[in-house]
Amino acid sequence: MIVIAIDGPAGAGKGTLARRLADHYRLNLLDTGLTYRAVAYALLQHALPLDNVSAAETAARQVDLAKLDRAMLSAHAVGEAASKVAVYPTVRRILVEKQRDFAKTPPGAVLDGRDIGTVVCPDADIKLYVTASAEVRAQRRLAEIESIGGSANFSEILADIVRRDERDMGRADSPLKPADDAHLLDTSEMAIEAAFLAAKTIIDDALAKRDKA
Ligand code: C5P
Repeated sequence: MIVIAIDGPAGAGKGTLARRLADHYRLNLLDTGLTYRAVAYALLQHALPLDNVSAAETAARQVDLAKLDRAMLSAHAVGEAASKVAVYPTVRRILVEKQRDFAKTPPGAVLDGRDIGTVVCPDADIKLYVTASAEVRAQRRLAEIESIGGSANFSEILADIVRRDERDMGRADSPLKPADDAHLLDTSEMAIEAAFLAAKTIIDDALAKRDKA
């Protein structure tokens, strides 16, 4: 069993890195952000306010990890709404339980999110905290939108990113922060391949130490 926890702010490149690592180490993969997005999406679909906690709890109970539809949940507005429902401890508890069950399933998993190393899998074999400057993250998001033919305004994206960071780092329950034993990986000046190689070095090292112990 190997569990790899990846945390960090929106747009730091966690998702791509998590996918590469899951492929490489042949592990299951869970983007936990999608679980919060699924709750937000359900509320938006039913035109319910995002502070309707009991509706959010019901939606959280109905989240099926095997049926998370990335394309449906990827909209920027869904991510914003997700960070609003993610402040409710009861909603988090329901989703965290599902995420923990996933992590326990052989042969192990790569999970990415905001609280994986601190709350969901505090005993993970390896914890990575992936960051990049807000400007670089906004630039990447802009390039992503433009690559699929969309258009957006850099300063609006940057303002959104800064606001989301504040909400995720400032909430009382499970705020975004590196676990004490996390390895920090700043990808501001790294392409995905370099970030993957840096993460692989950290992981191979940790696994070699674990196997020796
Ligand atoms: O990573 P993604 O942008 O999909 O996450 C959407 C929102 O879900 C985040 O801004 C955060 O508020 C919330 N989230 C969380 N804990 C996680 C994963 C995501 O609170 N483990």
